[in-house]
Amino acid sequence: MTQIKPGSKIGILGGGQLGRMLAMAASQLGYRCHIFCPDVRSPAFHVAADFTIAEYGNEDALREFAESVDVATYEFENVPARTAEIVAQETILRPGAKALEVSQDRLVEKDFLNSCGVKTAPYKAFETQEQLDAAYKEIGRPSVAKTRRFGYDGKGQLMIKARKDIDGVMDVTKGAPSILEGFVNFDREISVVVARSASGDVAAFPVGENVHTNHILDTTTVPAQISEVIEAKAKVMATRIANALEYVGVMAVEMFVSDGSGEIVVNEIAPRVHNSGHWTIEGAATSQFEQHIRAICDLPLGPTEARGKVVMKNLLGKDILDFETYLSDPKAYYHHYGKQDPRDGRKMGHVTWVNTDE
Ligand SMILES: Nc1ncnc2c1ncn2[C@@H]1O[C@H](COP(=O)(O)OP(=O)(O)O)[C@@H](O)[C@H]1O
Ligand SMILES: [Mg+2]
Repeated sequence: MTQIKPGSKIGILGGGQLGRMLAMAASQLGYRCHIFCPDVRSPAFHVAADFTIAEYGNEDALREFAESVDVATYEFENVPARTAEIVAQETILRPGAKALEVSQDRLVEKDFLNSCGVKTAPYKAFETQEQLDAAYKEIGRPSVAKTRRFGYDGKGQLMIKARKDIDGVMDVTKGAPSILEGFVNFDREISVVVARSASGDVAAFPVGENVHTNHILDTTTVPAQISEVIEAKAKVMATRIANALEYVGVMAVEMFVSDGSGEIVVNEIAPRVHNSGHWTIEGAATSQFEQHIRAICDLPLGPTEARGKVVMKNLLGKDILDFETYLSDPKAYYHHYGKQDPRDGRKMGHVTWVNTDE
């Protein structure tokens, strides 16, 4: 496997906060980053050596970008297949195209997970009203209708609690390929952030417990309130998925846990560093961002243990303006992503507490 030594150049597709924190971690290890993003105001540009402002369909710009770097990676899973293909023609792309293909489409993803022997919620694909009615007959309620592609933070989803809720589904999916999936009556949501290096070494971080508010991640707490057996099982599942994808880099696997039965159902995978792994920056021996750089450059993976009890909270919209509070708290680590407009619900930053009960 090709090792990319410190001092080399790393290309990152996507210029949001994940790209920004990747570039910061890369820089500590002596790498320079080149960010590719169509948005002029990308927060990752602030901390990178080079940037390109161009559309993901601009093949000339993509080739020039890819030729300028020693390895390329991405910070979002909706990188178009053609974009990934062009970059992979000119440089090493890690993770590879398979991870994108699987994670971009909820149906392909669920089929893949089941083929790995990992349990998911029951699901059925539909597009038309007739297919939806047939899917509803099979899956029943409560259930969740979700578009197969481009959903995030609960967008493109509708909960079916009562029979009449079915009538609203086509308004949400608008005839796009979708799935109806059975609702999982879970006790808690967890995620496993796992790294696999180009040489095939695997290291999982301690499992995080996630609380969502309005479909957006609010907090991640480590350790998760789960038994050692469930913690171990969850890591084994994430490792199996990473190996099956021949994955290179950091990925997150979101899971639902039922305390009584101890059953774990995999919800979705994200082929990238993940919001539920931000706690690792100060809360773990190695941050997920550094771990991703180590993995794609084929360096030894870092130790993953937590430094104690850790809580990460997202700062959405105007929450970010409260910096005095966090900066006055000796146990808090305040992160501002450098975005200008604190729109409601927008991820503006986060704060992490290490070894405090707040
Ligand atoms: N089948 C389900 N059963 C129970 N809760 C669900 C189910 N699917 C989604 N949810 C809830 O909605 C959230 C968002 O759904 P998810 O499939 O992760 O979509 P997104 O891509 O928007 O993150 C989940 O984190 C979970 O809280
Ligand atoms: Mg999700």
